[in-house]
Amino acid sequence: MAEPSRYNVGGDQAPSEILKNKLRIKDQQALEDTESVLFSDTYEYFLAKLNEGKLEFNIALIFDVHKYFLGPLYSWAGKVRSVQISKDGVLFCKAAHIESALKEFENLLRKGLPGKSDSKSAVAEKLAIIHCEFNAIHPFREGNGRTIRLFLDLVALNCDYSLIDFGKTSKKTYIEACIAGMNQDYSKMKSIIYKGLRKK
Ligand SMILES: Nc1ncnc2c1ncn2[C@@H]1O[C@H](COP(=O)(O)OP(=O)(O)OP(=O)(O)O)[C@@H](O)[C@H]1O
Ligand SMILES: [Mg+2]
Repeated sequence: MAEPSRYNVGGDQAPSEILKNKLRIKDQQALEDTESVLFSDTYEYFLAKLNEGKLEFNIALIFDVHKYFLGPLYSWAGKVRSVQISKDGVLFCKAAHIESALKEFENLLRKGLPGKSDSKSAVAEKLAIIHCEFNAIHPFREGNGRTIRLFLDLVALNCDYSLIDFGKTSKKTYIEACIAGMNQDYSKMKSIIYKGLRKK
């Protein structure tokens, strides 16, 4: 039986129960607050690594980010999920196909990472594709959105941009862009990221 989740897991389970966690937090708000603190700490840790020139932008980094972020709370941090999940009726990659989808995603990272010589438009487009393709796989039980946005921030910084300002876009528009991206329509996400990019 799958663990409770805020997601719809496996079809008919209510997504409202609190995730079982190592700190035995039973209150949703307290759990979210704890995740927020861990997330800030994760930014600090990986920004320092970036400044030391110690990061390689590959899948291993994404998994390290997830593990560092949610490892203090959840046993499944940094591990590929084994349950099916959906949001708002949108089904993400089947659990059995995640490993092969990640191999393709690794190719995308190898060929499709933006660099300092790219135009702003090209950077936004490349980041949008990475965001949307990762989102479609949704390899983790929870925390996919925050993990990939942190990763994209690190890539953006490495291209001499500041942290991407997603706050310029409403949550609704952002989710619509994610949904379009599930069908390889990256244009909405590109325009969100373009708006949020500013040179350092
Ligand atoms: N209906 C949807 N269809 C496709 N993608 C979606 C949908 N709703 C949300 N998303 C994407 O999934 C992410 C949420 O995934 P998940 O809950 O695993 O990560 P999170 O870090 O907890 O989320 P959040 O973005 O709220 O911090 C969002 O950031 C967005 O990218
Ligand atoms: Mg979530």
